[in-house]
Amino acid sequence: MAEFREGLTFDDVLLVPKYSDITSRSQTDLTTKLSRNITLNMPFVSANMDTVTESAMAVAMSRAGGIGIIHRFLSIADQTEEVLRAKRSGSVMIEHPYTISADRTVQEAREYSEDRQVSGLLVLDKDTGRLEGIITGRDILFADPADRVRDVMTKDVVTAGPGVGRDEAKRILHDNRIEKLPILDEKDTVCGLVTSRDIINTSDYPNMSVDGKGRPLVGAAVGVKGDFMERGEALLGAGADVLVVDIAHGHSENAMGTVRNIKKAFPDCELIAGNVATAQGAQDLIKAGVDAVKVGVGSGSICITRVITGSGVPQLTAVIDCAKVGRENDVPIISDGGTRTSGDAAKALAAGASSVMVGSMLGGTDESPGTVLTKNGKRFKVYRGMASLAASIGRKSKETGYVSLDDDLNDYVAEGVEAMVPYKGGVTDILKQLAGGLRSGLSYCGAHTIPQMQQNAEFVKMSRAGFAESNPHDVSVM
Ligand code: XMP
Repeated sequence: MAEFREGLTFDDVLLVPKYSDITSRSQTDLTTKLSRNITLNMPFVSANMDTVTESAMAVAMSRAGGIGIIHRFLSIADQTEEVLRAKRSGSVMIEHPYTISADRTVQEAREYSEDRQVSGLLVLDKDTGRLEGIITGRDILFADPADRVRDVMTKDVVTAGPGVGRDEAKRILHDNRIEKLPILDEKDTVCGLVTSRDIINTSDYPNMSVDGKGRPLVGAAVGVKGDFMERGEALLGAGADVLVVDIAHGHSENAMGTVRNIKKAFPDCELIAGNVATAQGAQDLIKAGVDAVKVGVGSGSICITRVITGSGVPQLTAVIDCAKVGRENDVPIISDGGTRTSGDAAKALAAGASSVMVGSMLGGTDESPGTVLTKNGKRFKVYRGMASLAASIGRKSKETGYVSLDDDLNDYVAEGVEAMVPYKGGVTDILKQLAGGLRSGLSYCGAHTIPQMQQNAEFVKMSRAGFAESNPHDVSVM
């Protein structure tokens, strides 16, 4: 027998204000759990979508205290490279610096540095692997492209030992007026590189979420078919802190089997899976072994799953149902989709989510992949559902190398749309606004921390009139 129950979402409710002893937003603490073993300094996660998260977004997210999940619609090599890139930027010591041999040409050095987006390369002897020099933008700026690296590189390289701390490295860089400090082990082999840029970054981003080695936290998504085991292994090898099993219907044997296989092969892997929208869905994923559950079916701004399939649960109800199971099992819940404001995020967290995954709010920024388009004098970027027609066709052409004119487009049933979002500039300001709004949200709940907010939370359901009253009304907004 079909059952009927009420489901609510963010616009249906408000959080009832509670007595607060908070006198400044800085007294609130946004620390939260992403998963069983990963703590974030801010509860925002950028969505694993090809118009949202590659390395640039992941770095920005970790600097703000959150985390980015690199999407999986790339070859294994490219996705792994994005993880490596994110890990490199912002580490105090880069563990595997890019190198070149002295007999390469200036042109090759230029192309390699541009491709890897680095400003300098260490020059190693081809046979012994010993450090011979360093080549930076300054060395090659006016050099003949056909020159050999050995003829233009800086040979007299200042180095340090592996135990060098941040302050000591800073002093050496300053005393020698240099920007790059290769680290050599006892056998004189290169084992790292400290750059002035990375030292500046670590002081500029005190809230950064980092791994045990001080590198930015970064996650990466895998699917449930084809190469997911090989992909997972490569991503973990590159240093991904967490894998996300990404499937629209996460309460499925496909998702559960994938979770079990990954956990069996890589027992230490921190693993998130989703998406589900029910307590039973969360329970089954937890039983399969996940370290966090991603919640949200059809809630995303570009989703048409509910339109096409008739399935889904309004996001707030989905979060409340799943969070109950999460609490009983000590497994964090991630609210994914439908967050348009810091107020929505506050409601999702108060309802029991430990973090919030966002897509459209971060799309259209400098850090999101894609180029800026101009239409009627306004600037936009593409933001599209990963199950949209365009994304599905793009995926097929990447997998097979072609899309044939004979392909029947009716074979694709899109569950997402392709959209344009206004170009918004850098993402850092958006994240500051989100975090600031959330801190105020905590204060209105009389809470210093997110767990306190969850304890204090009392929702009031509102009418259409209440909703209208909640937004600017009877004025012309400038
Ligand atoms: P927001 O609302 O933040 O949502 O833009 C981002 C989330 O939407 C999900 N997503 C999709 N859902 N069809 C769907 O039904 C799609 O094509 C699609 N693409 C992304 C995903 O969970 C993401 O994090």
